[in-house]
Amino acid sequence: MTYLPVTSARPEAVRVGLIGAGWMGAFHARSLSLRIPGADLVAIADPAIEAAQSLAAELGVARVTPDPADLFADPEIDAVVIAGPARFHAQLSIDAARAGKHVFCEKPGAVNLDELGRVEDAVAAAGVHWQIGFNRRYAADFLAARRDVASGAVGTPQLLRSLTRDPGSGSIPHAARVPRGTIFLETLIHDFDALNWYNSAAEPVSVHVTADALVEPGFKGAGFLDTAVVTVRYSNGAIAVAEAHFSALYGYDVRGEVFGSAGMVQAGRATATAAVRYGATGLSAETPRLNIELFADAYTAELADFAEHVRARRDGAAAPDHGVPLTPGLLDARRALAVALACIESAQTGLPAAVAGSSAGAEARA
Ligand SMILES: NC(=O)c1ccc[n+]([C@@H]2O[C@H](COP(=O)([O-])OP(=O)(O)OC[C@H]3O[C@@H](n4cnc5c(N)ncnc54)[C@H](O)[C@@H]3O)[C@@H](O)[C@H]2O)c1
Repeated sequence: MTYLPVTSARPEAVRVGLIGAGWMGAFHARSLSLRIPGADLVAIADPAIEAAQSLAAELGVARVTPDPADLFADPEIDAVVIAGPARFHAQLSIDAARAGKHVFCEKPGAVNLDELGRVEDAVAAAGVHWQIGFNRRYAADFLAARRDVASGAVGTPQLLRSLTRDPGSGSIPHAARVPRGTIFLETLIHDFDALNWYNSAAEPVSVHVTADALVEPGFKGAGFLDTAVVTVRYSNGAIAVAEAHFSALYGYDVRGEVFGSAGMVQAGRATATAAVRYGATGLSAETPRLNIELFADAYTAELADFAEHVRARRDGAAAPDHGVPLTPGLLDARRALAVALACIESAQTGLPAAVAGSSAGAEARA
């Protein structure tokens, strides 16, 4: 038998290095290796080298290193995915950009606006693509709601709502090790981005926080917070409420809502599947337990979009067009971070706080 030759029309995959092989990094690694045809995971860096080695062995990745600098120096790597702890994100982004690597960075983009300003400068100087892991935008229901805002179906946004309840057991044994401000900088930052994205015609102006340590009251004195409600006021007058809790016994619960002058749209699903059980005591259904269950598709879609953007840069092609603003970049990272930082101030004083520096560019940083 003789096979006929085929000229492949399939573009060369984007070669990606992973930085940080923990919970989120491992999911992203599996997406890059197994779920996204346009990407290849070619190297993994983590100072906890055993984590890098076992993930590399699982996925057949040939290169592992404890030092992310090895990835930056590797000419065969086009792009990096940063999934290390938040306090390292900015410097890793800067080093990657200076080495000419495109960057997908988990949230937050940085832990303060000065750091983020340095990332903006490095990315602009290098001309690389930089994208942040605001995955909620890629969940089908959240994106459908954003399309309803764009089409005018809900009219002018007036009241917005977003919530995150992380799964838990009713106690947080590692509370002492959670960096202060985490509920705003790493959890609610998703909600702030969702609200900013839904109400993207306006700027966040001020916040007022009510927060407490209701799950672990013993750690409140050390500044730990596990429960928070935030009111955000926008420049178009819209009022938003974001809330977070670190220990929902029933699983991972994420929802969003936009109420406008012409209607209302809701996103977020309460059940893990469409199956609903009917019995003598009533109805029951499984709830999503983990972020990587609820957002498996969204986490994959955001990285597939990243790979498309990198490929477009590499091949001189047009960037993907989603019909509505979707791919979150540095301005989105800045706007959400500015809200989170204002929340830290408001939580400390108990008073409303102005959102400073939510616009991009040098004048915002001056
Ligand atoms: N988008 C989401 O829904 C979501 C969910 C969970 C976590 N995250 C984000 O992902 C990031 C990682 O969180 P995680 O839960 O995977 O944490 P994790 O602790 O499970 O993993 C972090 C990994 O980074 C490694 N690391 C430590 N210092 C490093 C350095 N200097 N350079 C490179 N790697 C380093 C650690 O050894 C560890 O393996 C955080 O920014 C977090 O906010 C996002």
